[in-house]
Amino acid sequence: MRRIGVLTSGGDAPGMNAAIRAVVRTGIDHGFETFGARHGFAGLIAGSLVPLGARDVSGIMQYGGTMLGSARSDEFKTVKGRTEALRVLHQHDIEALVVIGGNGSQQGAYALHAEGYPVVGVASTIDNDLYGSEITIGVDTALNIALEAIDRLKTTASSHQRAFLVEVMGRDCGYLALMVAVAGGAEAVVIPEIPTDPDAVAAELREAYKRGKSHAIVVVAEGDQFNAQALARHFAEHRDELGFQLRVTTLGHVQRGGAPGAFDRLLATRLGAAATQQLADGSAGVLVGLRKGEIATTPLAEVVKHKKQLDTELLALATVLAR
Ligand code: F6P
Repeated sequence: MRRIGVLTSGGDAPGMNAAIRAVVRTGIDHGFETFGARHGFAGLIAGSLVPLGARDVSGIMQYGGTMLGSARSDEFKTVKGRTEALRVLHQHDIEALVVIGGNGSQQGAYALHAEGYPVVGVASTIDNDLYGSEITIGVDTALNIALEAIDRLKTTASSHQRAFLVEVMGRDCGYLALMVAVAGGAEAVVIPEIPTDPDAVAAELREAYKRGKSHAIVVVAEGDQFNAQALARHFAEHRDELGFQLRVTTLGHVQRGGAPGAFDRLLATRLGAAATQQLADGSAGVLVGLRKGEIATTPLAEVVKHKKQLDTELLALATVLAR
């Protein structure tokens, strides 16, 4: 094999650049020439391909986002879109593709694989909801950004005896919220995996106030039936007496931006290198991820079939620690 392609797809994640760099440079080591598709599968369909040599990926590792750009492509979900993407790949003599992304992206990778085209997926999403990898590129940085925000919020919250509802990303997965709540010492956490009773959350805040706390933090997963705004509205409509004054902060895309931390740079580098190793070994149709701390592969067919389960055991611990 001489020519491979690489693309980043779906929500960008801090560390994607390190993964691209690793694919390109380890690819050179295997004798590959690498082409990058701009803006994910959309770029493939549009024929927007750039040759990537060792120098083209210099100085990118310390930046968040992705130098190739990313997108969610509806067109690629259609047979017509995929046929066009395959035509472009064949036209450029690109014999295999590395897809760096999360759930939607790996669905796309699997669709190409199912049509007989060699694809290797690299596990990358801040949501950490991808089956086949215990942690994905971007998660650690996103957690640290949310933690820094919470540490900051606590100082202003304490000054005014306020409670903050802090909404974090994660789509329909509560992983980021739960980890941030435990590591940030939150008084409560609201995640989609557990049914939310807003009256119970109000009671927890009231009790924390009575126990003499100077502030309270409730971490709310964006995918919960009650996001932060809905929870605040519920408290207002029910005239819930919380003790604390209430404020809402939505972290949103702040969590996805900025420089990747050491963990994500290392993980992304290892996964990018593992992806080209797979191709060099003549293997494809797999996701490279981390399992039990080791680089491991999972068939894309399994990845798209399973939903990663959130270990909610830490929830009980978070409650005990919030005394
Ligand atoms: O999948 C990553 C993610 O950041 C989710 O946490 C969030 O729900 C979604 O992407 C936001 O998507 P967009 O950037 O398209 O608004």
